[in-house]
Amino acid sequence: MQMAQDAGNVLMQRLGSAKVTNKGDINLVTEADLASEQLIIERIRSYHPQHGILAEESGEAVMVGGKRSEWKWIIDPLDGTTNYAHGYPCFAVSIALEHEGVLEIGVVYDPVRNEMFAAERGKGATLNSRTIRVSDVDELNNAMVCTGFPYNVRERPDFARDFANFTMAAQAVRRDGSAAIDLAYVACGRFDGFFEDGLHPWDTAAGLVLIQEARGRVTNFDDEPLDIYTLKVLASNGLIHDAMRNVLRRGA
Ligand code: IPD
Ligand code: CA
Ligand code: CA
Repeated sequence: MQMAQDAGNVLMQRLGSAKVTNKGDINLVTEADLASEQLIIERIRSYHPQHGILAEESGEAVMVGGKRSEWKWIIDPLDGTTNYAHGYPCFAVSIALEHEGVLEIGVVYDPVRNEMFAAERGKGATLNSRTIRVSDVDELNNAMVCTGFPYNVRERPDFARDFANFTMAAQAVRRDGSAAIDLAYVACGRFDGFFEDGLHPWDTAAGLVLIQEARGRVTNFDDEPLDIYTLKVLASNGLIHDAMRNVLRRGA
């Protein structure tokens, strides 16, 4: 949590002035992504030099001293880079810790609102130290759901179809631009559900622990337990999960 907070402060200090470059056509990276990631990696290395790290901007370092570590930190130093580059105040730092393939800890820190979402397997989830739970909305018709579009959206017309179908089936649909925040908001009940096709482990790892510990449900679109190394994520309070899945299936 301290690491996420310090990295969040790095983001806030550079907000509005960080140099932006393109990784792809519409995929950006800023100096702030890199500075935040550097802080987090240096901090982990100083405490746990043997641990593996998977960080969005530097890739994966699992072999430490020639040995595969059973621990892996999964880091998105700035989730919501496009928002950040435009000064739209919705972005976060996401850090998770995996042990022998099981996600044990997840932290999502929103430095704009100073909101720290944190969870440890078996110990519940909190927002600024207060216990959080998913919502109890049990009908899609009364639900506020959220989604996101990956950077290859222009080649994937199915995103518009799912978005349109949810717009007709749910009470409201949002697209906030930070999957980590979207998942944290499902965990604390602000959103009742979330879906996205095209996510990476650093987008979802921390959010998955948050939602599971807040008693929600996270699967792929086929209702199998989510493997964060696959792309499709369906997260909800559990009660509207099947209804959401049916909407996604409608377009399949
Ligand atoms: C992106 C955000 C966005 C989601 C994209 C992600 P980034 O992460 O989480 O909400 O729709 O799929 O890639 O690039 O800002 O770290
Ligand atoms: Ca991300
Ligand atoms: Ca990122």
